[in-house]
Amino acid sequence: MQVPFLDLKIQYKSIKNEIDPAIQNILDNTAFVLGKAVSDFEAAFAKEHGVKHCIGVSSGTDGNHLALWALGIQPGDEIIIPADTFIATAWGATLCGAKPVFVDCESDSYNIDPKKVEVAITKKTKAIVAVHLYGQSADLDPLREIAKKHKIYLVEDCAQAHFAEYKSKRVGGLSDMASFSFYPGKNLGAYGEGGAVTTNDDEVAKKVKMIRDHGAIQKYNHEMLGHNYRMEGIQGAVLGVKLKHLDKWTEGRRRAAKKYNDLLKDLPFIKLPKEMNYAKHVYHLFVIQVNVGGSKQRDDLVKYLNDNGISTGLHYPIPLHLQPCFKDLGYNKGDFPVAEKLAECGLSLPMFPELSDEQIVYVCDSIKKFFIA
Ligand SMILES: Cc1ncc(COP(=O)(O)O)c(C=O)c1O
Repeated sequence: MQVPFLDLKIQYKSIKNEIDPAIQNILDNTAFVLGKAVSDFEAAFAKEHGVKHCIGVSSGTDGNHLALWALGIQPGDEIIIPADTFIATAWGATLCGAKPVFVDCESDSYNIDPKKVEVAITKKTKAIVAVHLYGQSADLDPLREIAKKHKIYLVEDCAQAHFAEYKSKRVGGLSDMASFSFYPGKNLGAYGEGGAVTTNDDEVAKKVKMIRDHGAIQKYNHEMLGHNYRMEGIQGAVLGVKLKHLDKWTEGRRRAAKKYNDLLKDLPFIKLPKEMNYAKHVYHLFVIQVNVGGSKQRDDLVKYLNDNGISTGLHYPIPLHLQPCFKDLGYNKGDFPVAEKLAECGLSLPMFPELSDEQIVYVCDSIKKFFIA
């Protein structure tokens, strides 16, 4: 049996009758950049997340940059970022000229460890970026308290966490501002690049809109510095269609996760993802940790699964503090043991809403055979 890591074709086929006319409508109206499809999507996405403003942008990376730019982050500022995340979280800081300051993650949730945040705060710290990694919310209450105490911003990177919940509320409106990615493989994916910034703050939302479009609200009147971070019309149309299916797809991911958990729970060689009591996990990724034999055993398992037709992923093989591009920041191996262990022993199993029970059984049987045979 073949089990892909992700299957975008199945999903497209299931909604082709809605997607094709929505794209055709953009072509007929030549509404290629922003336009009604984008603003309709923005309104629907904001409503779904219980947040006042959603501004559609060109990618999640651009959303990270825009969020910090609109908050006034400048060269010399420091931004606290988890050591285990995709590099784009850190680009938000570096593109503003600020310095990323890394903090280890928790061994259960894999999210930034609030207990370790405060020691990383200096006079230069201006914001904490909490990533809801793999689809599970970070523990926002203690982070919010720390941010309030030090008068700094709390920003959410929700690239992997559409419809994820913290204490029964959807992420994305639970901090000063948030960014989302609609990269095709995300829980809500465009058919190209796309992202969004969300906030409840009217002033900040206005700034984000201006920066997204060359610092102007009125064409050719550039009130502030800006860039071109606009969302394309076709992406707005695709996302508008797909948003209506997201609840069902989220439940599909949660069903797949439950099946994995049920089938693998007694296997002592691996650690399963833990859904924290404050979170509703949306399983963008289903990441296990190989408990024995370190990275060699993990890599052997990857090969074994691959030889048996099962594709897997590593998220992420090098934590941010050990990335060559951040060499000058002076971090060393051993600085963030939880993130480093995850990099060495973590393994992402196939995960998408349409993953069949049969495929999951095959993946789990293969893992058992690897360890037991
Ligand atoms: C945590 C995180 N932040 C930001 C991004 C960047 O999003 P994009 O690929 O849309 O630029 C990603 C994408 O993988 C991500 O996983």
